[in-house]
Amino acid sequence: MNAPTELPPETTRRLPIRRLRVDLSNGFPKLWNGGEAFRTHYLNALSMSFPIGEQFFIDAVKKGVAMLPPEQQAAWADEVRGFTGQEATHRFLHAQFNAELERQGLRNYWQGWAAWRIKNGENMHPVNHVAVTAAYEHFTAVMATGVLTHPNWLEGATPELALLWRWHAVEESEHKTVAFDLYRAMGGSERRRRLWFVYIAVQFFFESSLQTFINLWRAGLWWQPRTWWQAGRYLFGRRGLWAASFFPLLRYLGRGFHPNDLADANEMVQWLRAQREAYSIVGG
Ligand SMILES: [Fe+2]
Ligand SMILES: [Fe+2]
Repeated sequence: MNAPTELPPETTRRLPIRRLRVDLSNGFPKLWNGGEAFRTHYLNALSMSFPIGEQFFIDAVKKGVAMLPPEQQAAWADEVRGFTGQEATHRFLHAQFNAELERQGLRNYWQGWAAWRIKNGENMHPVNHVAVTAAYEHFTAVMATGVLTHPNWLEGATPELALLWRWHAVEESEHKTVAFDLYRAMGGSERRRRLWFVYIAVQFFFESSLQTFINLWRAGLWWQPRTWWQAGRYLFGRRGLWAASFFPLLRYLGRGFHPNDLADANEMVQWLRAQREAYSIVGG
């Protein structure tokens, strides 16, 4: 990981566990992301996959470390504690976020698709679970850099939710190497790592698109031309998702790739400083 430099002393732990001071129990507007249908419902779709996905990542990393020789396991204790603590707090807040989406009339199908796959794959060797986790973590790290680098992705968002997404982005960048390094420590091959990534990429594009479309359909917004004009700009615009993500995502397929080959957003350190009042550090 590219250790953030020049941080306040209390945040120099390798993977601090932060409690974000946001409360989503009072709800938030339906079009919370700048009033735009597509970028609101795309991020809603991603959030729907987080609680089940992040629990899978936690389980995978714990199982993976348990496969290492006992003399190596102690060296992983801090990484595992930080990683699981960060992902567990993401799960908690995104579960609150998702509960509000249900109250707003949306339905989470993605978690059902993921639960089915997790059930079917539970007897695979843990190295596969860690490879899947590393692949998803590459997606989240690339997205995180985009969220932090391109303010237009959250322009006009409800402040508490902009805080939620940027906090999550910062922590995904911080722990982007954990599953990858564990996969290597387990002796996972380059070929297996890249094959899993291709599989995950296809599945992610399909499922994120379908859940986004379902969200727009349930919200009664899928037929509005403005939704798709905004989608085009958000996805394919100059500072859009595709331009920011496509090549960094592909880098994962390079032989010998490591997550630290991609720089973290400079905005990470700025966020941690500027939002120091918005979180407390509770472990790590
Ligand atoms: Fe996360
Ligand atoms: Fe993560």
